[in-house]
Amino acid sequence: MPQNNWQELEQKLFLKTFNRTPVTLVRGQGVWVWDDQGRQYLDLVGGWAVNSLGHCPPAIVEALEKQAKTLIQTSNQFYTIPQIELAQLLIQNSCLDRVFFCNSGAEANEGAVKLARRYGKLHLNGAYEIITTHSSFHGRTLAMTSATGQGKLQEPYMPLPSGFVNVDYNNIKALRRATTARTCGVMLEPIQGEGGVNVPNDSYLKEVEGWCHKEEILFILDEIQTGIGRTGTLFAYEQYGVEPDIMTLAKGLGSGVPIGAFLAKEHASVFVPGEHGSTFGGNPLACTAACATVKYIIANDIPGKVKQVGKYFIAKLESLKQQFNFINQVRGRGLLIALEFNDEIAKEIATTCLSKGLLVNIVKPNALRFMPPLIITEKEVDEAVDILESVLSQQKSKEEELRWIKQC
Ligand SMILES: Cc1ncc(COP(=O)(O)O)c(C=O)c1O
Repeated sequence: MPQNNWQELEQKLFLKTFNRTPVTLVRGQGVWVWDDQGRQYLDLVGGWAVNSLGHCPPAIVEALEKQAKTLIQTSNQFYTIPQIELAQLLIQNSCLDRVFFCNSGAEANEGAVKLARRYGKLHLNGAYEIITTHSSFHGRTLAMTSATGQGKLQEPYMPLPSGFVNVDYNNIKALRRATTARTCGVMLEPIQGEGGVNVPNDSYLKEVEGWCHKEEILFILDEIQTGIGRTGTLFAYEQYGVEPDIMTLAKGLGSGVPIGAFLAKEHASVFVPGEHGSTFGGNPLACTAACATVKYIIANDIPGKVKQVGKYFIAKLESLKQQFNFINQVRGRGLLIALEFNDEIAKEIATTCLSKGLLVNIVKPNALRFMPPLIITEKEVDEAVDILESVLSQQKSKEEELRWIKQC
């Protein structure tokens, strides 16, 4: 049966969880994707900060092809080589000492929280509470919904698992006030992604780390969105002069193949056999994709390139801000960038961008987020900004027309 009514079928068959853009993507190459009508788009969504090396990167495709013909899955009852190689790569290139592999970001954070709770039981008189922040995002499981400091995501599922305290982000005093004898750790994003690309003050993470050391509690960084080169260093913590006790990864780690990980310093690595596990976590196929990704990113200094092209992109957006007074702010680091408007026009802007062949993410009703593949070039940024400029000009004319009508 020929099927070209994919979007209708989706409406009929799926639980209604996603507000999807009305485009059915069938193919991708580099920073470009194509829909089932043959239309081409410049992709600044990048699989929600996942397609670090672009769509179908040859280095990953080749490695996957070879591994798929060799060994796909064995269970963690046995040793397998790709996961050990990946562990070595991550540990040699970070401040952490040990790793656990899983399949997604939420799962990585769940594991990190379980590890912190074990630490609390063993070393902090049974302390179990984790402090997290408002506007954070840590995943969709029940516990991570509780960790995620956004009322609108929590409210539908009340009562949520206890053991999480949400405080203001970028506010060390709030964090100090929330710390009690029950606290075993603090979990933060170095830059809040889903919350709107919120970049903290330069001193915030250092102050949090200092507080955690003083209180002898664990400093946990959720680098699921910021890690693997996204912000201009392999891990965002490097830019803030801090070292987490536990760090979580997912998204860009496997270039689109699902994989998550949490890493811990030796003193925090308190699990014993049987206390945590996963059926698919660390399977040879996903670990091969992640190994090839991390190797490519390091060998080609992708973080250095991200820093450069990210600065270029931000400068271009700043010049749009000079041109359009309904832009409120440009913020971000590397290739995790938000463009915030004075009004809730993000959806309108994104829809017009789509009609002109540009894919963007609506991170808030008044803000767009750009998280393109890390391999995007300045020329491709120019193409994206040209489209944005024409969309914003259209918006400006619309607003002027409305103002004129109101005046009449
Ligand atoms: C910082 C952060 N943590 C955790 C998650 C959850 O990851 P996943 O959707 O893979 O479970 C996300 C996803 O957007 C994220 O941005």
